[in-house]
Amino acid sequence: MDAVAQQIGVIGTGEIAEVMIAGLRHAGIATPIVVSPRSIDRSARLADELPDLVVGESNQDVVDRSSLVIVAVLPSQLDDVLVQLDFAGCDLVLSVVAGRSAASLASMIDVDVPVARAIPMPPNRDGRGPIPLFPDLPLARNLLEPLGRVVAVEDESHFDVLTGGSATMGAFFGLTATIAGWMRDHGVPAGAAAAYVTELFESLAFEAKALDPDELAVRPETCLTPGGLNEQVLRGLDDAEVFDHVREQLDRILVRVRA
Ligand SMILES: NC(=O)c1ccc[n+]([C@@H]2O[C@H](COP(=O)([O-])OP(=O)(O)OC[C@H]3O[C@@H](n4cnc5c(N)ncnc54)[C@H](OP(=O)(O)O)[C@@H]3O)[C@@H](O)[C@H]2O)c1
Repeated sequence: MDAVAQQIGVIGTGEIAEVMIAGLRHAGIATPIVVSPRSIDRSARLADELPDLVVGESNQDVVDRSSLVIVAVLPSQLDDVLVQLDFAGCDLVLSVVAGRSAASLASMIDVDVPVARAIPMPPNRDGRGPIPLFPDLPLARNLLEPLGRVVAVEDESHFDVLTGGSATMGAFFGLTATIAGWMRDHGVPAGAAAAYVTELFESLAFEAKALDPDELAVRPETCLTPGGLNEQVLRGLDDAEVFDHVREQLDRILVRVRA
């Protein structure tokens, strides 16, 4: 593919920045990268490990050397970081910061540079998983496509809803760990329990991906044997209002994301 940018800058060299950098290198994208100097242990390690990755002298140095800047600080750190930077000359600022609208970012950047938002997740380090994108700018898409499946939305309010969906990662691992732990409590060796649950969920996700949206909506019912074991667990969780609680938590996340 075409080079994603002449040079990629990263402001905020934390967990998700490392995921994106690893994903790009995993995909064979050799575009030079300059990262901000905070989290110096991580920044220095990345510079040691990866060719064509250097640590900038300051955040402004990162911006000045980059045509595309990824902003990956925490939401609470964003204002302080952006107000101090001059993005003149950049082709794109890509924010992965949850809950800050493109308009709010553009007003803080204060120069006429295109702004896009994305939600990378840890599996993107291996080129897997979805990446919501708003708006669908070609430079942003070119950067993100090697990392996973870009899901571009035309309405930013839908991006907020997908952000809510991304917040289920911990719950997914919670469910996985609960089932594997229950198996261990009943004597199944830890390795066998983990292998069983992860293989099961991977295969079910594979099957679910092949369904059209209408089939997916009714799959909880169509997968059941009447009177069978799966029906018992589904009805039991439903009676305990577990699925209502899931929706309630997602509603709360949406309120927080839009606050
Ligand atoms: N983790 C995920 O799965 C995930 C998924 C999607 C989106 N996000 C979003 O990604 C953003 C970063 O999350 P994260 O999990 O990567 O957090 P993180 O590991 O805490 O990374 C934040 C980074 O920003 C750095 N930083 C703080 N102030 C800075 C400044 N003034 N200048 C330059 N760098 C500064 C921190 O450095 P210090 O360590 O020195 O403070 C740290 O390296 C968040 O906004 C989050 O909403 C995360």
